[in-house]
Amino acid sequence: MENLGLFKILLLFCLFVSGRIVSVSCLNSDGLTLLSLRNYLDKVPPELTSTWKTNASEATPCNWFGIICDDSKKVTSLNFTGSGVSGRLGPEIGQLKSLEILDLSSNNFSGIIPSSLGNCSSLVYIDLSENRFSGKIPDTLGSLKSLADLYLYSNFLIGELPRSLFRIPALNYLHVEHNNLTGLIPQNVGEAKELLDLRLFDNQFSGTIPESIGNCSKLEILYLHKNKLVGSLPASLNLLENLTDLFVANNSLRGTVQFGSTKCRNLVTLDLSYNQFEGGVPPELGNCSSLDALVIVKSNLSGKIPSSLGMLKNLTILNLSENRLSGSIPAELGNCSSLNLLKLNDNQLEGGIPSALGKLRKLESLELFENRFSGEIPIEIWKIQSLTQLLVYRNNLTGKLPKEITELKNLKIVTLFNNSFYGVIPPGLGLNSNLEIIDLIGNNLTGEVPPNLCHGKMLTVFNLGSNRLHGKIPTSVSQCKTLSRFILRENNLSGVLPEFSKNQDLSFLDLNSNNFEGPIPRTLGSCRNLTTINLSRNKLTGNIPRELENLQNLSHLNLGFNLLNGTVPSKFSNWKELTTLVLSGNRFSGVVPPDRHS
Ligand SMILES: *[C@@H]1O[C@H](CO)[C@@H](O)[C@H](O)[C@H]1NC(C)=O
Ligand SMILES: *[C@@H]1O[C@H](CO)[C@@H](O)[C@H](O)[C@H]1NC(C)=O
Ligand SMILES: *[C@@H]1O[C@H](CO)[C@@H](O)[C@H](O)[C@H]1NC(C)=O
Ligand SMILES: *[C@@H]1O[C@H](CO)[C@@H](O)[C@H](O)[C@H]1NC(C)=O
Ligand SMILES: *[C@@H]1O[C@H](CO)[C@@H](O)[C@H](O)[C@H]1NC(C)=O
Ligand SMILES: *[C@@H]1O[C@H](CO)[C@@H](O)[C@H](O)[C@H]1NC(C)=O
Ligand SMILES: *[C@@H]1O[C@H](CO)[C@@H](O)[C@H](O)[C@H]1NC(C)=O
Ligand SMILES: *[C@@H]1O[C@H](CO)[C@@H](O)[C@H](O)[C@H]1NC(C)=O
Ligand SMILES: *[C@@H]1O[C@H](CO)[C@@H](O)[C@H](O)[C@H]1NC(C)=O
Ligand SMILES: *[C@@H]1O[C@H](CO)[C@@H](O)[C@H](O)[C@H]1NC(C)=O
Ligand SMILES: *[C@@H]1O[C@H](CO)[C@@H](O)[C@H](O)[C@H]1NC(C)=O
Ligand SMILES: *[C@@H]1O[C@H](CO)[C@@H](O)[C@H](O)[C@H]1NC(C)=O
Repeated sequence: MENLGLFKILLLFCLFVSGRIVSVSCLNSDGLTLLSLRNYLDKVPPELTSTWKTNASEATPCNWFGIICDDSKKVTSLNFTGSGVSGRLGPEIGQLKSLEILDLSSNNFSGIIPSSLGNCSSLVYIDLSENRFSGKIPDTLGSLKSLADLYLYSNFLIGELPRSLFRIPALNYLHVEHNNLTGLIPQNVGEAKELLDLRLFDNQFSGTIPESIGNCSKLEILYLHKNKLVGSLPASLNLLENLTDLFVANNSLRGTVQFGSTKCRNLVTLDLSYNQFEGGVPPELGNCSSLDALVIVKSNLSGKIPSSLGMLKNLTILNLSENRLSGSIPAELGNCSSLNLLKLNDNQLEGGIPSALGKLRKLESLELFENRFSGEIPIEIWKIQSLTQLLVYRNNLTGKLPKEITELKNLKIVTLFNNSFYGVIPPGLGLNSNLEIIDLIGNNLTGEVPPNLCHGKMLTVFNLGSNRLHGKIPTSVSQCKTLSRFILRENNLSGVLPEFSKNQDLSFLDLNSNNFEGPIPRTLGSCRNLTTINLSRNKLTGNIPRELENLQNLSHLNLGFNLLNGTVPSKFSNWKELTTLVLSGNRFSGVVPPDRHS
């Protein structure tokens, strides 16, 4: 009775004040809690300023910015996502007993996550990601029995991941990546039976991956990369039949990779890169029939590439580069009909490139460089119309470049350098309109430089050095606006040098050790980005054009061993970056500065 009486008095008071210009309100307790939380905020959006205040005609905060209530006018959702809020989260948050959703993501909150948050017993969803929260993750969050989603990523959190979190019976999503968390991954991780998605990457977790992870039987996504984890991959990972993504790259894992079983049928992406495993690529991976990307870079793997990988019909990316793999490429890989990227560079692979790879009709990038491959590139490969990159440099490949290379209209990058290719370069190569990089240095190519260079206006690198080419430089090179590196050194080329007036991006020009004659073109002085000019060991005549003094970025100038005469420019003052200057072996008169090498 007494309480009811008090209620009546209060009600009367409220009605009374509401008729006047008084700022006293009858805000409910959740509203009052929000007003105390407001005191911790420094910067808020105008919508918040205009709604978060006592208003005599409103007894609830249910129309306030970012707030949703239930039927009994209790706050169930506090959502400020991406609202430019700065400040802290006050401990009073613990008083919002009906709060189900707390979304403060993508703001500028700082300070600690209050441990009282563990008192908001209705919470289902917490997103504090992309803020500046610091300190530890409060252990009390473990008492939120209904919590399904916990997103704390991209903050400045430190300390250990509380064991209590894995006892939350409903927990589906735990994302704490991009923080500074340390310590072990709790051994009781397997208690989180409902866990679907666990992201711990980009922290400083150490120790081993707990075997109990195999008890998180619903787990679909496991991101543990970029930590300091040791030990081997737990065999229990093979039990996770719904796992789609497993990322453990950039740790210090060891032992043999025992992964792949009949249960891995849902696995889509596997990245084990940058670890120190022993042994080889497990043949059982061939069972993971949904695999889209298999990436194991620089993880010390040895042995052969298992032919079972040929069963992976949906594989689009196979990257096993920078290991110690040996043997030859299994022809079965030609059955991976979805392959888009095949990257096996920096291994000890040998033998021929199988012609079966020509069946890969979606292949865009074939990267086999720095191995011991020999023989010819099979003609079937030169017919893969989807190819954009063919990177096979530093092998022991041979053969002629077939005319089919000129029909690969999507080709952007061809690097065949340091092999033993021979014969004439098909003249149509210059007409390939998407070509950006052609690097064939260090082969045995003969014939002439292909005409029509820069037909496609994309060419940036053209390197045919150290071959046995003859003839002149095609005049079309003068039109190459995007060309940045032009290298024809160590060939048998002759004739006069072309003009360079339109080569505005040219930065590296190396034509040394040929039989070029005539003058150094004055127009070189208009290529203001030039850092290196090497015209040494030719038969160039005339003097050094004064225009070269305009080249303020020039660091290497080698004109040695030509038939140049006249006087040497006395003002080197413009060449502030110059570290190498070679003029010897010419016919200069007057004062000649000594050769300089840095
Ligand atoms: C007070 O709340 C009422 C009802 O929601 C609203 O119409 C009015 O604009 C508010 N007044 C102020 C000053 O915010
Ligand atoms: C928070 O609000 C935004 C829109 O402002 C919405 O997209 C988002 O889904 C809300 N968060 C939750 C958890 O409901
Ligand atoms: C974020 O908050 C910090 C103080 O914690 C302040 O120095 C900074 O200017 C704020 N940044 C923005 C974008 O509001
Ligand atoms: C949680 O609520 C209980 C009971 O209301 C209280 O004793 C405790 O101090 C609260 N915890 C925190 C961390 O605020
Ligand atoms: C993590 O801590 C290191 C030093 O302990 C610091 O340099 C780094 O900025 C921190 N990173 C984050 C995301 O807090
Ligand atoms: C998985 O859970 C079962 C029973 O809940 C338990 O016996 C087993 O030891 C757990 N396995 C691991 C690897 O923790
Ligand atoms: C895997 O996912 C399927 C489909 O969502 C579900 O039916 C099945 O129960 C899940 N397996 C486990 C072990 O949770
Ligand atoms: C392969 O991909 C196709 C198309 O995305 C899909 O329909 C099929 O189920 C996938 N196969 C496997 C074994 O995952
Ligand atoms: C390259 O291949 C030739 C035969 O084609 C062979 O004699 C030579 O030893 C190979 N070189 C290397 C480095 O493998
Ligand atoms: C080029 O061919 C010559 C003669 O055929 C051979 O002696 C030389 O080793 C070859 N060089 C390369 C790089 O293949
Ligand atoms: C020099 O190179 C830069 C890029 O490195 C480019 O943006 C600029 O256009 C070039 N300058 C000239 C004169 O071509
Ligand atoms: C430089 O050599 C050319 C012939 O190559 C000659 O015509 C010219 O007179 C010489 N100039 C000087 C200054 O010696």
